[in-house]
Amino acid sequence: MSVRRTMFSTILSFLIAALLLTSPADARQIRKDELRARQLEAAKKFNLPSRRAVTSGVKNITFSNPRASEFWVDGTKIPEVDFDIGPSWAGLMPISANKNETRKLFFWFFPPGPQGSLDDLLFWTNGGPGCSSLEGLLQENGPFTWSYGQAKPTVNQFSWTNISSVLWVEQPVGTGFSQGKPDIRNEDDLAAELVGFLQQFLEVFSELNTKKLYLSGESYAGTYVPYIANYIYEHPTALNLSLQGIWIADPSLSWDVVQEQIPAVDFVHKYEHVFALNQTIMTELDAIAARCNYAGYMDKFVTYPPKGRLPLPGKSTFADPGCDVWDMIFDAALNVNPAFNIYRIFDTFPILWDVLGFPGSFEQVQLSPIYFDRPDVKQAIHVPDVPWTECSNIDVFPHGDGSLPSALSVLPNVIEKSKRSVIVHGLADFILIAEGTRIVLQNMTWGGLQGFQTPIANDSFIVDGVGALGNTHTERGLTYFEVQLSGHMVPQFSPRAAFQTMEYLMGFRSNP
Ligand SMILES: *[C@@H]1O[C@H](CO)[C@@H](O)[C@H](O)[C@H]1NC(C)=O
Ligand SMILES: *[C@@H]1O[C@H](CO)[C@@H](O)[C@H](O)[C@H]1NC(C)=O
Ligand SMILES: *[C@@H]1O[C@H](CO)[C@@H](O)[C@H](O)[C@H]1NC(C)=O
Ligand SMILES: *[C@@H]1O[C@H](CO)[C@@H](O)[C@H](O)[C@H]1NC(C)=O
Ligand SMILES: *[C@@H]1O[C@H](CO)[C@@H](O)[C@H](O)[C@H]1NC(C)=O
Ligand SMILES: *[C@@H]1O[C@H](CO)[C@@H](O)[C@H](O)[C@H]1NC(C)=O
Ligand SMILES: *[C@@H]1O[C@H](CO)[C@@H](O)[C@H](O)[C@H]1NC(C)=O
Repeated sequence: MSVRRTMFSTILSFLIAALLLTSPADARQIRKDELRARQLEAAKKFNLPSRRAVTSGVKNITFSNPRASEFWVDGTKIPEVDFDIGPSWAGLMPISANKNETRKLFFWFFPPGPQGSLDDLLFWTNGGPGCSSLEGLLQENGPFTWSYGQAKPTVNQFSWTNISSVLWVEQPVGTGFSQGKPDIRNEDDLAAELVGFLQQFLEVFSELNTKKLYLSGESYAGTYVPYIANYIYEHPTALNLSLQGIWIADPSLSWDVVQEQIPAVDFVHKYEHVFALNQTIMTELDAIAARCNYAGYMDKFVTYPPKGRLPLPGKSTFADPGCDVWDMIFDAALNVNPAFNIYRIFDTFPILWDVLGFPGSFEQVQLSPIYFDRPDVKQAIHVPDVPWTECSNIDVFPHGDGSLPSALSVLPNVIEKSKRSVIVHGLADFILIAEGTRIVLQNMTWGGLQGFQTPIANDSFIVDGVGALGNTHTERGLTYFEVQLSGHMVPQFSPRAAFQTMEYLMGFRSNP
């Protein structure tokens, strides 16, 4: 749209401007070519290739076990993808060597790009529980990307395969294409299942033995990943791999009251023009926050260093009666913004189309089929034509997850045994709130001390070529990042920032 003005009004505004010695309003009009130049300049910053940028191709990786060829995926024959994604290996792998084993996990393995490392193996899982890691592959950190609103898949400039070999696994049993009846009771069972799978995987892909292993994931994987890492550290001969560290984004680490309720009303105030809730409900929320001991909690208890153990605000680890502000806010937000997305609060109407059918707070299939539910896609990646949904309709823990949250159990041990551990949090995530993660960290003891001893400095996360894009802090082997503007799925919403944090975890950069 362009702005038309009459010659008269233009001259008049020049005269008025000259008289007032200010710039004329017309100076705001921008020529198309100037606009284009500015757009290209801005885009360059976010697509700036790192030292890993090269033309194309992958590292020459071959597997001598003839069974590996059963899993080989032809990178030129991926439905709807009009470029070669390179060689990869995918299919179902049992979780034990028992002949009668019925439980199998689906994996998709990619070798590193030309500048990537052959010494490492990076494992990725999504959360849920019961959500598929193919979401991560297709919309977050894989070599080709088909995100919300995209008409077709594109090359992911920030694929983690630029850094290393990557193994995406749908786990536990009951998730995605995985087969068998879910029977795990807790996170140790889940870890044993995954380690069993990895043993079988390394039998076939034995060239990956002895690699340095990194475990990563997001959301409920904040529970999975520390427990899997802990299991591997506690069973040092189970795998012929050398675990180095973990990376978890917007992780589920502790009680809901801590990661959702305490910080929720402060969060709405911080983004009050995004939420746009009316004064009546805001006043009510403030009153509840005060009555339920949420108001002022951060100032009082989240100090650097902490003054002692941090208390729960009430009796419940979820929310005391009448204190569930998180759900009140979610309902009120949907009232004014039907497209309100708990995973990224900035979304407004209309809701974008999503090839995986899950573009926001709710599942929504606007055009079928879902990508991984297409017979041709299933055929390309060696799975039978069974239904696929992004998040499972069955309980992958049939009787619930009997484990304690990771920050209250295994996470300190994992940080102490790892070279580096990274926790990332998008600041525009409402399902898990960054300030809640700060509470969790200040209440956790690792490396002999409780919490961070010095404050997290503002604007301390400097993304290459971009500048300050959030905050970061490192103490005793743990690095915490907060990413401005990013929602829950950080590699999807802020791929460049996520890439840099992964390079840091794996030791390919010395500073966060
Ligand atoms: C990743 O690799 C691709 C292809 O090799 C390249 O185009 C891209 O710039 C690389 N990205 C980064 C961040 O280095
Ligand atoms: C890849 O490695 C295999 C042996 O490991 C070798 O036979 C083959 O020639 C190599 N290919 C390239 C393109 O270097
Ligand atoms: C499968 O075989 C193993 C031994 O190979 C046995 O311990 C196990 O009970 C069997 N499971 C079932 C379900 O038959
Ligand atoms: C680990 O893998 C390497 C390379 O395949 C092999 O030489 C070694 O024997 C394996 N070690 C164990 C304990 O299985
Ligand atoms: C802090 O940790 C202690 C000890 O594990 C626990 O009892 C308490 O509930 C925790 N507080 C919060 C806010 O999670
Ligand atoms: C204010 O918001 C609340 C929560 O959504 C709603 O119940 C109420 O009707 C709203 N008040 C007005 C005047 O719209
Ligand atoms: C960091 O920024 C927040 C606002 O985003 C502000 O409330 C806080 O005081 C700042 N912290 C420091 C140490 O300047």
